[in-house]
Amino acid sequence: MKITIVGTGYVGLITAVCFSEIGHDVMGIDIDEKKIKKLQKGIAPIYELGLDELLSRNLKEGRLKFDTDIKKGIEFGEVVFSAVGTPPDMNHWADLQYVEAVAKNFGKYANDYKLFVNKSTVPVGTGDWCYQIIKEALQQRGVDFGFDVVGNPEFLREGAAVKDTMDPDRIIIGTHSKKAREIMQKIYSPIAKSTVPVLYTTLENAELIKYAANSFLATKISFINQMANFCERVGGDITVVAKGIGMDKRIGGRFLHAGIGYGGSCFPKDIKTLIQHGKAFGYDFSILEAVEQVNSGQKEVAFEKLMHLCPDLSDKTIAVWGLSFKPKTDDMREAPSVKLIKKLIGEGAKVNCYDPVAMENAKALLKSGSINFAKDAYEALKNADALLILTEWDTFRAADPTRIKELMKGDIMIDGRNIFEAEEIEKSGLKYFSVGRPDNINQKRKLNIQWLKNRGHGGIKDKTSDDAEVRSEILMAEKISENS
Ligand SMILES: NC(=O)c1ccc[n+]([C@@H]2O[C@H](COP(=O)([O-])OP(=O)(O)OC[C@H]3O[C@@H](n4cnc5c(N)ncnc54)[C@H](O)[C@@H]3O)[C@@H](O)[C@H]2O)c1
Repeated sequence: MKITIVGTGYVGLITAVCFSEIGHDVMGIDIDEKKIKKLQKGIAPIYELGLDELLSRNLKEGRLKFDTDIKKGIEFGEVVFSAVGTPPDMNHWADLQYVEAVAKNFGKYANDYKLFVNKSTVPVGTGDWCYQIIKEALQQRGVDFGFDVVGNPEFLREGAAVKDTMDPDRIIIGTHSKKAREIMQKIYSPIAKSTVPVLYTTLENAELIKYAANSFLATKISFINQMANFCERVGGDITVVAKGIGMDKRIGGRFLHAGIGYGGSCFPKDIKTLIQHGKAFGYDFSILEAVEQVNSGQKEVAFEKLMHLCPDLSDKTIAVWGLSFKPKTDDMREAPSVKLIKKLIGEGAKVNCYDPVAMENAKALLKSGSINFAKDAYEALKNADALLILTEWDTFRAADPTRIKELMKGDIMIDGRNIFEAEEIEKSGLKYFSVGRPDNINQKRKLNIQWLKNRGHGGIKDKTSDDAEVRSEILMAEKISENS
């Protein structure tokens, strides 16, 4: 089929190369001329596993082309996918101006019956709104080719986007039209095969499914992060707790990795948009408000740990490993590293940072004479008083703790992604701090037991104990419980 993809960012580009790989004739359209020039030469503007190979093969074999001419693009495709961005606006609402522009252009240039497919994440009702925009544009032109609108939300994960597109968990197709459903079935048939479930539903449900999925996953992350913070107070180990609950099929083990919070271009904005949409209808999405609040606090965890260990950072050099919001991508949107590095610099620290692929994007966001972008992970350690690990890249997992210790001036490692085990790191002489796995586990357990013992059945009984040590432990335990 002839398919046009408008917007060749992370989603649009991957969709374009994968659709051409399965045999469709695809034209990718973008307003960004630089990006399109690169793509025409076979250069991928983003880092994504497997993308380069698919891009060059399909360009060479003539199934894939790129252009900036929207008229040409709309006329070309029997189906036009809109994969433009829906970034947050100043009111934490999805900015729909780019989607609106594509719908207007669709109405302006459609020259036959076509499908308008929304792949971007859009608030419920946007598909119907696009329908109105297109209908009015066609009426103004005095033409009636007919068209349908489809909601086809995207669930790919950056870092595994090609794989996720070629072999998705599910495909969601929202439309009120039988004809549109049949066309979508044809597009996806090489991918859907017998193993991939396809859910056909209404436009509204398709739009809601995307927000519900992201909100649920973000909730899982904030939940496990709060459990991690509690483990730190009472002497538990979050990795084991997560493993234990993940064994329950009703819960599942994925998205239960405690760390320094979620970032990226999707979760933060989608959760905020859903909260705002609820508010507009007098509904308080209290669970999502909490998810957001917890996440925002969690982004401070590594910083707070460092400040506790080194209250004065003015003469300190801090090494940072990992800048992208997650591994296997160069995407820096809402990456926890940005906020954290700015805070370190605000405290007067020098920062030596390294990321395997996100350095160029990071340089554009982090402009300060106090930041040095190192050539490799080990170079970033030179003279460092502390090392912060912010993204769980596999290359960091394989690092040699003895070499880390030798290169550093200080001995503090704060592992914001729990990629190491305390035992293997501490053998090298480094002091290791992670998330939800307290370094002083026995002391925490002792305090918790003391608190339970003194609490008894009717509240804290023994505050007036003659034993000063018991009294101080009770007070500490009470303080901990207040802060929890
Ligand atoms: N990135 C992800 O992991 C992911 C996953 C699932 C869903 N989504 C959703 O998919 C959508 C796209 O996300 P993305 O990360 O690919 O965004 P992106 O910012 O990487 O790409 C958007 C592209 O659209 C182009 N564009 C904007 N207006 C245009 C117009 N009028 N005509 C042509 N091109 C235009 C931009 O130049 C840019 O290249 C968003 O709604 C996002 O929420 C993203």
